[in-house]
Amino acid sequence: MELIHTFLNLVAPPFTFFTLLLFLPPFQIFKFFLSILGSVFAEDVAGKVVIVTGASSGIGEHLAYEYAKRGARLVLAARRERSLTVLIIEKNKYNNFVLLMRGFFFMVYAVDHLVNNAGLMSVSMLEEAENVTEFRAIMDINFWGYAYMTKFAAPYLRNSQGRIVVLSSSASWLPGPRMSFYNASKAAVAQFFETLRIEFGPDIGITLVTPGFIESELTQGKFVSKAGKLEVDQDMRDVQVNINPIQRVESCAKAIVNSACRGERYLTVPAWFRVTFFWKTFCPEVLEWFYRFLYITSPGDSPKEALGKKLIDFTGAKAVLYPETVQTPETKKD
Ligand SMILES: NC(=O)c1ccc[n+]([C@@H]2O[C@H](COP(=O)([O-])OP(=O)(O)OC[C@H]3O[C@@H](n4cnc5c(N)ncnc54)[C@H](OP(=O)(O)O)[C@@H]3O)[C@@H](O)[C@H]2O)c1
Ligand SMILES: *[C@@H]1O[C@H](CO)[C@@H](O)[C@H](O)[C@H]1NC(C)=O
Ligand SMILES: *[C@@H]1O[C@H](CO)[C@@H](O)[C@H](O)[C@H]1NC(C)=O
Repeated sequence: MELIHTFLNLVAPPFTFFTLLLFLPPFQIFKFFLSILGSVFAEDVAGKVVIVTGASSGIGEHLAYEYAKRGARLVLAARRERSLTVLIIEKNKYNNFVLLMRGFFFMVYAVDHLVNNAGLMSVSMLEEAENVTEFRAIMDINFWGYAYMTKFAAPYLRNSQGRIVVLSSSASWLPGPRMSFYNASKAAVAQFFETLRIEFGPDIGITLVTPGFIESELTQGKFVSKAGKLEVDQDMRDVQVNINPIQRVESCAKAIVNSACRGERYLTVPAWFRVTFFWKTFCPEVLEWFYRFLYITSPGDSPKEALGKKLIDFTGAKAVLYPETVQTPETKKD
């Protein structure tokens, strides 16, 4: 038995390396042609039933507008009913059929797209967390919320040869401080849906979206703090978003719906943020050093002394990197 592994240890790496070298270029060309076909024959969602969770603000809200523009019939879910109502009455000029829901249950007879989007971010070092149990909520909402929705919608989606759009995050591969629970939940989501691709086969498509930093209540500083409570803290937001430029939510939502209609498997918005994946894969040490340098303060110092925050404050770079709505937040209340 051991002999097999000794043999494979010797043979598998060079075999993989040389096959990839030969196989990768034609495979990429093949995929490129598939993507052109996908754009030419993009799905028309007019009249189709689309469920969006977490549609009361941020990315989810704008995904709802984007689907509405294309004539989809929407089923929107979130806890803040009033923001949802305002969203529909004030901004839905497209006369779509819209159903609002508070809980995660629905009475629809057909589903064409399920957009798993509702999510919550936490910002706390593990050692500073006052009560770790409070952080179970992150996994409950971000991971189990998606898992339950998908379980209930799967039979309908199979029936309609539908699609699931999943909001994971580039946090699923980026290491770095204070977001361990959030990032773990997003990594769980990514891995969960990679597995479901195999289980669903061609019946249900999956578009796995990994945003970088997007204008929303989340990037306005709304997250679960080290005390385990949902707070809005802009200074901590500056520390966490740091020197990363934030993308406008409208263009992000448009890119997501385009990508879903083209049947794409992966989407990173902004697209350039994908390079961080290669940094993480090929030289994780450099990334770790970068994070410690910009995000971490000496023990005893407030996290708000982080070098990255000082950099954007003193240089005025914030005005360029963050959109105005994010600089002065106005989070909605129900
Ligand atoms: N913004 C970014 O930079 C960024 C980056 C990577 C990934 N993402 C992901 O994108 C998704 C959308 O986030 P966002 O940035 O648009 O944040 P957001 O503005 O805070 O929106 C989050 C949405 O989730 C809903 N939600 C939160 N907890 C819920 C619960 N327990 N039950 C039902 N709904 C709940 C909220 O509605 P109610 O409070 O009304 O329930 C809200 O509509 C999230 O999954 C997030 O992790 C965002
Ligand atoms: C920690 O939080 C959990 C969940 O909110 C709660 O049930 C528990 O009593 C808390 N523990 C302490 C020591 O406060
Ligand atoms: C989580 O992901 C974000 C990017 O979305 C990154 O800035 C942060 O450092 C990551 N944190 C952890 C603990 O992985």
